[in-house]
Amino acid sequence: MKDKAFITPGQQIIRAHSLFAAGGVYISDFYFMEQNSPRRRIGLQPQQHSKEANVKRSFFFWCITLVCCFVFLSAETPDSNSDTPQYRKDNQLLRPDDYRNWIYLSSGLNMNYSPMPGGHDMFTNVFVPQYSYQEFLKSGKWPDKTMFVVEERGATSKGSINKQGHFQTDLMGIGVEVKDAKSPDKWAYFAFGESDKSAAANPKAACWQCHEDHAAVEHSFVQFYPTLKPIAKKFGTYKQAAENPQ
Ligand code: HEC
Repeated sequence: MKDKAFITPGQQIIRAHSLFAAGGVYISDFYFMEQNSPRRRIGLQPQQHSKEANVKRSFFFWCITLVCCFVFLSAETPDSNSDTPQYRKDNQLLRPDDYRNWIYLSSGLNMNYSPMPGGHDMFTNVFVPQYSYQEFLKSGKWPDKTMFVVEERGATSKGSINKQGHFQTDLMGIGVEVKDAKSPDKWAYFAFGESDKSAAANPKAACWQCHEDHAAVEHSFVQFYPTLKPIAKKFGTYKQAAENPQ
């Protein structure tokens, strides 16, 4: 019977897998429906079958379309509130707790911007939300409301089997930078101690000015982020002069 030819177990499995590969939960639902369909239980006339098959095909088509739309939209929009700046009533920024799930840009070891030696060994790890990163890949610019986190961690060479070089240790604090068209200077800067839950914006001279004067792309130090540098150069948003020793 035609019905049998339409759903052999082998065909179902292949279909379920390819749908699963496309990222759809709907696919396994569809597979389930096939298994339990009344058509399978009571047997249908060939004409009825083709009508039902059409309905299923269009159901299937819309499921795929929905999944594709969802995947497309989720790449372009913040995944959750923690990907965009959240403020208290007094304008203090809430600590972005999820930043370890963002895109990692790069690390610095003992970077220091003054001629004075730094106090202790430290790593800086930089993160940016997934949706901002995707937008940067397409335009070489950061979307409004982008947050950046620079995480400061202790560095040591003593431990376990290590004989030389440094590895990262405890969290010391995080610095947060926000691109915000509504803030007076378009970019705002916040420093959080190890366990601070919120922080007030820093005065312009403390953070803003150095980023304004020396960053290669808008206010971000893309000259130190090797995967972003070629993207910014491709889109012409890279200030080459920022690489000059100063
Ligand atoms: C003297 C220059 C200077 C000052 C002042 C400064 N920064 Fe930065 N900042 C840098 C440099 C250089 C980097 C590049 C990466 C690194 O240090 O690891 C950076 C990176 C960052 C990043 C990662 C994103 C980016 O822009 O590249 C954040 C977030 C950040 N700084 C926040 C702050 C905050 C908050 C303050 C003030 C408390 C501050 N910065 C003060 C030079 C500065």
